[in-house]
Amino acid sequence: MLRSLVPLAGALIIAACGGETGDTADAAPAVYNEAAAPAAEPSATASSAATAMASSDEDGDAGAILAALGGDYANADLTNGARQFRRCQSCHTLNEGGRHTVGPNLHGIVGRPAAPAEGFNYSPQLTEAGLTWDVETLDAWIENPRAMVPGNRMSFVGLRDAADRRDVIGYLAVETAD
Ligand code: HEC
Repeated sequence: MLRSLVPLAGALIIAACGGETGDTADAAPAVYNEAAAPAAEPSATASSAATAMASSDEDGDAGAILAALGGDYANADLTNGARQFRRCQSCHTLNEGGRHTVGPNLHGIVGRPAAPAEGFNYSPQLTEAGLTWDVETLDAWIENPRAMVPGNRMSFVGLRDAADRRDVIGYLAVETAD
């Protein structure tokens, strides 16, 4: 079936079809996720998405989103990611349109610019840092926010364990994909 498709298009369609019934990749409309689309390595995306889709549609989405993050993110443990996120939950909501509390709502955080102008009263330090939250930036922030942006207002000691950071970033990407 795949051989009849241009490889890249095939990978994107497969990455996209997690929300469909999953029976025919050829027929899936291209409602693909922004987070899953860029830089997806065709073979990696195709194989992990195909494996994940064999189990369930939801896993298919998650597999494609994680694969699109690159590197070791395809191996992120989302159960541990959810557990690690409990440390963030006292200050951050994740749901779309969720309230800003001590910290800003984190819906759609992966890939978006830091400290958007409206909504939350960010520190000048974070605003002026001019960051975009790609996975590398998020990793450095979560490891030690104070070292990365001195003077910012996130009072969080940091996650020292690299696998915990990978897992929580994967969780943020999967949970807040539109
Ligand atoms: C004690 C409260 C607190 C905890 C715990 C906390 N944060 Fe934050 N976070 C904040 C605050 C406050 C800011 C805004 C910082 C600023 O403006 O300087 C922030 C900012 C952020 C931002 C940047 C948001 C944006 O819109 O640019 C990210 C990403 C983030 N936090 C992720 C996390 C993650 C992931 C965790 C858990 C591993 C976590 N935070 C734990 C309070 C917290």
